Amino acid sequence: MIKKFTMHSYEDTISLGIKLGHLTKNKMVFILEGDLGAGKTTLTKGIAKGLGIDSTVTSPTFTILKIYKGRLNLYHFDAYRLEGVSHELGFEEYINQDGLSVIEWSNHLVDLLPSELLKIEITYIDDETREITLTSMGEQYDDLLKEL
Ligand SMILES: Nc1ncnc2c1ncn2[C@@H]1O[C@H](COP(=O)(O)OP(=O)(O)OP(=O)(O)O)[C@@H](O)[C@H]1O
Ligand SMILES: [Mg+2]
Repeated sequence: MIKKFTMHSYEDTISLGIKLGHLTKNKMVFILEGDLGAGKTTLTKGIAKGLGIDSTVTSPTFTILKIYKGRLNLYHFDAYRLEGVSHELGFEEYINQDGLSVIEWSNHLVDLLPSELLKIEITYIDDETREITLTSMGEQYDDLLKEL
């Protein structure tokens, strides 16, 4: 299933993230695609709020993985720097752990991804406007999109 939303502001994207966070079930995996500055980390901030996480989510670019504790733990990956080296680092264990994995630059981790996941693509339209396309792969993600 595919759903598209147009976000007219930063706050719109945060709100969509909060709704996604509310609907998240344990061990889900979301992959985030979009150019630099599209809003991947912004959406993740909203998702974190929806998971009841109090601390501020920042871009994990220099750390690859940040873990936040909430109703469900959030594993926020930024695989930008991992091209070709991901297997040696044991990230599978994190992706399969209890909680939600949100992965930016998942194309650098492609061998480690489960077959069922939610793909989130963010397209820059103009300064304040973004189009967000959500594609569900697997039944639990179809259900999530139906409720969104
Ligand atoms: N509708 C919108 N949704 C999301 N962000 C928006 C929107 N309008 C403006 N912005 C701005 O766009 C920027 C998005 O930055 P963000 O760090 O979330 O992007 P990113 O995709 O994670 O980038 P990177 O690839 O560098 O990690 C922020 O400065 C935010 O304020
Ligand atoms: Mg980012």
